[in-house]
Amino acid sequence: MKFFCTHISKKSVELATRVLESEWVSEGEVAAEFEKALAARLGVQNPVTVNSGTAALHLALAVSKIGPGDEVILPPQTFVATGLVVLMQHAVPVFADIDPMTGNISPQSIAEKITPRTRAIIPVHWGGYPCDMDEINALARRHNLIVIEDAAHALGATYKGKPIGAVSRFTAFSFQAIKHLTTGDGGMLCCLDKKDAHIARKMRWFGIDRSLDKPDILGERVYKLESVGYKYHMNDLAAAVGLGNLEDFPTRLQRRQQIGAYYRRKLQGVPGVTLLRMDNDRTHAYWLFTMLVERREDFIRKLASHGIPSSVVHLRIDRHPVFGGIRKELIGQAEFEARQISIPIHERLSDEDVEHIISVIRSGW
Ligand SMILES: Cc1ncc(COP(=O)(O)O)c(C=O)c1O
Repeated sequence: MKFFCTHISKKSVELATRVLESEWVSEGEVAAEFEKALAARLGVQNPVTVNSGTAALHLALAVSKIGPGDEVILPPQTFVATGLVVLMQHAVPVFADIDPMTGNISPQSIAEKITPRTRAIIPVHWGGYPCDMDEINALARRHNLIVIEDAAHALGATYKGKPIGAVSRFTAFSFQAIKHLTTGDGGMLCCLDKKDAHIARKMRWFGIDRSLDKPDILGERVYKLESVGYKYHMNDLAAAVGLGNLEDFPTRLQRRQQIGAYYRRKLQGVPGVTLLRMDNDRTHAYWLFTMLVERREDFIRKLASHGIPSSVVHLRIDRHPVFGGIRKELIGQAEFEARQISIPIHERLSDEDVEHIISVIRSGW
C-alpha cells in the first residue's frame, strides 16, 4: 500500500504524446487551454500556470512588491517552500501559531503578530482543509495586508460555497508529482484581480509579455524590460499532462472525500485517536487525512507491521536554522507537532484497504 500516489490518466498520455509529436513543447496553446479549463471546471479565478507551487507563491510576493524588511506572517506547519519564498524576497518570515485541532493558522495569533512592517499573510490549508478565510481577510482589510493563500494541498476544497482559488487576492496551488492533480511539476497562481494576473503572466517569463512583444525584422522580440522577471512558465508538455488529469479530477476528489468521511465515522471515539475539527461551512480536499494520536511512534510501528504507511508529512519549519529556530511561544504548534500523523488517503485505495486501515487502528497500538 502506498502513502501517496501519482496519477497519470490515459488522456494525459494521449495529450502529452500529441505535444511531443507536434515538437512544440514550450509554453503555447496547450498551456493556454489548460488555464481556461482550470477556470471553467474548478471555478478558480484568473489562473496563471507556472512550473511549481513554489514559483506561484514567489510570484505572488513579487507581484505584491514585498521586499527587504517587510514582514510576512505564516504558520510553521507547512513545507519549507512557504517560508523560503519570503526569504527570496529578503523579507522577514513571522511565524504565527496554529489551531492544534485543525493544523491551520490561528487568526487570533495573526492579529497578535501584526506590526507596522507587516505586508502580507500566507495562510496554509493544511492537508487540504481551508483556513478561517473570512477572519483572515477581515484582518487583512483592517491592516491593509495582502493575503496569499498557500493552497498546495487544497485543490478542489471550498470555503463558504466558493472554491479555494476564488476567495483571496492570491492563491497558489502545486501540481507536483504527488498532488491530487499533477503535471509532473507545476503550479498555478490564481488572482481575484485581472491586473495582478496580467503582471504575474509577464513576470513568469522574464518580464516579457509574450502576447504583445512580437519579433521584428531583426528576429528578436521587441520588448523593454522594466523589472525583474523569472523563468517560471509552464510548458505545453506539463500542461498536456494536467489537462488530461483534469478530466477525472472530480471523481478522484470525490473518492478521497468519501474515504475521509468514512474514516471520520469509523475512527471517532477510538482510544488514543483525536480527530481534527471540521466545520460545515467548508469542504476538505483531503490531500491528507491528518489526526492526533497518543504514543505516535508505537502507532507508526503498529501500522507498518500491517503494511500500512503513515507519516507526519511535514514537521514545523521554524526549526530550520534558515528560519531562526523553534518559536517556543507557539503552543498550539507544539501540541500539534507532538501528536499529528497522517494515514493513506487516495483514489487507489480499495474498500478493502480502507477497512484494513480502520481495523488495524481500532485494534489499538
Ligand atoms: C504547503 C506547501 N506549499 C508549497 C509547496 C511547494 O510546491 P511545489 O513542490 O510544487 O513547489 C508544497 C510542496 O509540495 C507544500 O506542501
